[in-house]
Amino acid sequence: MKSCTCMCLLSILGLLLLTTVTNADNDTRLDLDYYSETCPNATSIVKQMVKNIVAEKSNMAGGLLRLHFHDCFVKGCDASVLLNSTDTNAAEKDAPSNSGIATLRGYDHIDNIKAAIEADCPGIVSCSDILALAARDATVLVGGLNWSVALGRKDGLVSNESEATELLPSFSMTYDELVENFAAVGFSQGEMVVLSGGHTIGRASCLAVWPRLYDFNGVAGQTDPSIDSKLAVELKKQCPQNQTGSILSMDSTENTFDNLYFKAVLANKGLFQSDANLLANPVGKKLVEKYSKRGATFKRDFAAAMEKMSNIRGALEGQIRRVCTKVNRRPEIHDEY
Ligand code: HEM
Ligand SMILES: *[C@@H]1O[C@H](CO)[C@@H](O)[C@H](O)[C@H]1NC(C)=O
Ligand SMILES: *[C@@H]1O[C@H](CO)[C@@H](O)[C@H](O)[C@H]1NC(C)=O
Ligand SMILES: *[C@@H]1O[C@H](CO)[C@@H](O)[C@H](O)[C@H]1NC(C)=O
Repeated sequence: MKSCTCMCLLSILGLLLLTTVTNADNDTRLDLDYYSETCPNATSIVKQMVKNIVAEKSNMAGGLLRLHFHDCFVKGCDASVLLNSTDTNAAEKDAPSNSGIATLRGYDHIDNIKAAIEADCPGIVSCSDILALAARDATVLVGGLNWSVALGRKDGLVSNESEATELLPSFSMTYDELVENFAAVGFSQGEMVVLSGGHTIGRASCLAVWPRLYDFNGVAGQTDPSIDSKLAVELKKQCPQNQTGSILSMDSTENTFDNLYFKAVLANKGLFQSDANLLANPVGKKLVEKYSKRGATFKRDFAAAMEKMSNIRGALEGQIRRVCTKVNRRPEIHDEY
């Protein structure tokens, strides 16, 4: 009896010790209430401003969601995607996946939100946290399910065009390449498929479908035979050859987060090669079928995967940028992540 009490006490002590040690190791972990003392209005400022942005232009929800995704896939969620290029450095922003063919949208909105928060509590809230909150709030506003955004990210000091080119998925990737690309940041095959459902909102440049319409497999004049033939005709109308600047909806409900994307993919009406390629693998096809039938399951799995994405850690050293497009002056760089 006595030895049991003793053992129990010992194990409790051990557990306490273990917890303390883990906490010490982990005191850089993100926290839902991270700003509750230092900037209690930060999360509501983001929410309110995103509400106004989406009210004014619903498809901007897509722009905000994609910004966060492209941030997190390169160097973790550290707002590296927001840094401008300089005379000596080409930044992620200027990679083909982020500019030109597939231009990211919403930078100005993030800058405005940052300015509003700086006015309230200067130097406290990171640009990467703002990106994470804005993506979540925007998605929820157009019909997505809520996910928790733990806070306390630091903004990174480095952004390289070449890294974005290497690490972001491209619309021409095969199924296996997509799986590999997502695995590099810790996502399973299933998570890759469900996250592709982000293509239920927003818009795309015609440039991203041109190769499928006019130059399939590099053969001039060839159209991807896997595109539904009616859709191919429609897309060619909307995206005339050599006419840059034309824009497409990501799916037929570009302002609504729903599972129509998966229905479209299943009907060979996915927009990009990468969307269509989800059917090229039996596991991928099964998941597309499932999500096309079960909208609530899609929303739930998507939210869970986004929460995971938002927790991809950035560099251990960082700062709270004053302006999201540039790193702070050197002397301000002290913060440990
Ligand atoms: C699976 C690999 C993926 C590829 C190859 C891919 C590729 C693309 C491309 C080429 C565009 C068009 C951009 C433009 O022309 O302006 C686009 C748009 C978009 N993507 Fe993806 N994407 C992928 C995964 C994702 C994921 C995981 C998400 C979010 C969870 C996402 C969210 C979006 C959104 C919301 C848009 C619309 C952007 C806007 O409205 O400005 N994509 N994607
Ligand atoms: C938060 O917002 C409220 C009202 O919107 C305002 O009265 C208060 O001063 C703000 N708090 C901080 C810390 O800025
Ligand atoms: C970053 O680039 C944008 C777009 O070119 C520009 O409006 C902004 O002023 C730049 N930011 C800085 C700090 O130079
Ligand atoms: C598009 O441009 C290419 C190369 O510049 C040219 O060969 C082709 O004829 C053009 N097609 C149309 C429909 O204008």
